[in-house]
Amino acid sequence: MHSARAPQGGPWQTAGCTPAARVRREEPSLPRDARPRRYLMCPPAHFRVTYSINPWMDPSKPVELPLALAQWEDLRDRYRTLGHTVDILDPGPGLPDMVFAANGATVIDGRVLGARFAHAERAEEAEAHLEWFRAHGFTGIHRPAHVNEGEGDFAVTSSYILAGRGFRSSPLSHDEAQEFFGRPVIGLDLVDPRYYHLDTALSILDDAADEIMYYPDAFSPGSRSVLARLFPDALIAAPEDAAALGLNAVSDGRHVLLPQAAVGLYAPLRARGFEPLGMDLSELLKGGGSVKCCTQELRS
Ligand code: ARG
Repeated sequence: MHSARAPQGGPWQTAGCTPAARVRREEPSLPRDARPRRYLMCPPAHFRVTYSINPWMDPSKPVELPLALAQWEDLRDRYRTLGHTVDILDPGPGLPDMVFAANGATVIDGRVLGARFAHAERAEEAEAHLEWFRAHGFTGIHRPAHVNEGEGDFAVTSSYILAGRGFRSSPLSHDEAQEFFGRPVIGLDLVDPRYYHLDTALSILDDAADEIMYYPDAFSPGSRSVLARLFPDALIAAPEDAAALGLNAVSDGRHVLLPQAAVGLYAPLRARGFEPLGMDLSELLKGGGSVKCCTQELRS
């Protein structure tokens, strides 16, 4: 029987010891395959911190807009250099958080589950995303009945949709997602306000192989046990890397783009055959977001 205890120790340890996990650890240089992706991003032309809806946001701290734009362009260009397609969503003037495009929808098998935001400040972003999908030939579009903040709280592997709740997305949105996508949804309770979206505490490294990394303390004890059971070989992040928003990462199966300050994650990622690429998104961090928050994956 597998132990459901929460994993202990530093970032190099894994939560379990299945034979597959042992093979992966003993062969650190196993090559990884990148799969070309299609992403949707929204430039931070109107990015500001004028309100605070998460603990990272301090409206008294100035934001350097030109720097935010340059950092965002760097991320966009990096995706393109790696061979990925990046579609662009036009930013809305009164929507300073729209740069965090991951929150606007969840797309699987070309089908679109729209978002419904928890806070009034971001409510209008949902319609802007739906309009983009209509204008770009997507037909299976569902406008949600329940609050969900897109890929902020939904993470997709081949076996599951992992779904966060506790701060933003409603537990009812999990049933809605399961019904719409016809995939098993695993509800996970977030308990630390700094990790208010699932994508601030957990990241998919290899979607095809159900390989993830996460920060256990962001989750309730029961959710930690669920994660340890489903992902015994997960990479466990240390508190300082989680605090650098290191779990807010995007992987194409080989390259893992992550906040550059999460230095403790580089070695364990390399040991698994991934190529960590540190990105500087310091200005967007003032809004409580980084690499993943800026990136919505359009899965066909
Ligand atoms: N300021 C935004 C908010 O609080 C940040 C969103 C970050 N996005 C994400 N996918 N975690 O809603």
